[in-house]
Amino acid sequence: MSLELCEMSLQQIQSLLRLTDDTLQNICCRRFTTEELFVDALRKVLGGLGRRGPAGIFTVFRREDGTTCCGRVFQLRQGEVVERSDEIVMDPSSSYAVNLAETQNQAETVISNWADSGESIDDYQANFSPAVTAAVGAPIKNFITCRISGERPGSLIAFNYPGRATSYDGDVLHGLAVLIGSVVALSEKMRETENAFQYTIEALARACEAAEEGTGKHISRVNRYAGALAANAGFASDFVQAVSFSAQMHDVGKIKIPNSVLLKQGPLDRAENEMILMHPVYGEKILGNSPRLEVAREIAISHHENWDGSGYPYNLRGDTIPVAGRVVKIADVYDALRSRRSYKESLSHRDALEIFRNGDERIDPQNHFDPMLLKTFFDIEHIFEKIYDSLAGEEVGTE
Ligand SMILES: [Fe+2]
Ligand SMILES: [Fe+2]
Repeated sequence: MSLELCEMSLQQIQSLLRLTDDTLQNICCRRFTTEELFVDALRKVLGGLGRRGPAGIFTVFRREDGTTCCGRVFQLRQGEVVERSDEIVMDPSSSYAVNLAETQNQAETVISNWADSGESIDDYQANFSPAVTAAVGAPIKNFITCRISGERPGSLIAFNYPGRATSYDGDVLHGLAVLIGSVVALSEKMRETENAFQYTIEALARACEAAEEGTGKHISRVNRYAGALAANAGFASDFVQAVSFSAQMHDVGKIKIPNSVLLKQGPLDRAENEMILMHPVYGEKILGNSPRLEVAREIAISHHENWDGSGYPYNLRGDTIPVAGRVVKIADVYDALRSRRSYKESLSHRDALEIFRNGDERIDPQNHFDPMLLKTFFDIEHIFEKIYDSLAGEEVGTE
């Protein structure tokens, strides 16, 4: 092996290791997309190699129906992706290059150089589907095709290496295909787990609502108001996402309160009232200590605290109240005003706004709400109205 090839090979091994490292560190189901991985992988593994990088890569995966494939052509210059095609949907049997990869066992790559084929350049293009050759935009003179194995099999096809496509190029591409295959499989498993987690949380939140004869729309609306309020107050998108998912669990603690109290018509006696005042504490306990539920826990324990310290259960005041709880408090109060309860009729948006401005016998907006969030609420009150209207439902509860 020449010195130049040794250096290049070392550089590519290091790139692959760095890519694996970065991918594992950044693999977060909310942020990760397969396409981002491709672009990152192409840049890191094929970038900076001067003359040996391919001019483009076609990545293609089988769809769930098994009969069609879809993918994109990424055009590269010095390993940077300079253009990506629209999604190409194709019948895998229409492309010789894809077929080649699919019929090989996973340890192999297929290397093809037009110069060795004895075919005309036009005939050689028939190795690809017309959509791919159109996206490449130049005659294909060589290619390497490599199978991506896993639950969602696919192919990685690199084309137009300068000069010839070599077995060394094939090994690099194979390394890339193995990495992409395992990360795609891993991310799909993580997505399944994440979906199951979200489903469970929604079921829990809905179960608590059911006790109050709600239709579940209250929690969906509170999620959406809270997300809109946090986003418009300028919080980071991670926080906005966490709040708009976790807000629905604000009243999980009510599951410990008997229906005879929750649904009681007329005034509560002292013991019953004390029971209701405990629901934030019960909620915090139910949510346990999982780091994934940290924001939900903060919301559950603090959504009845008031800015001036007059709330419950701990009389927290000002900045000591978790910000997620301050956001959800505004969302929850607005929705409670708009909804019909066992002891009151629903209010119009205008009447609810009036209470957010001047208060009533229970709500003192200037002293109960975070002033910055209250201002944001007035900036986007039309969004609150829209959310309520789009998710209106018959709700009868005690709060
Ligand atoms: Fe509550
Ligand atoms: Fe609520």
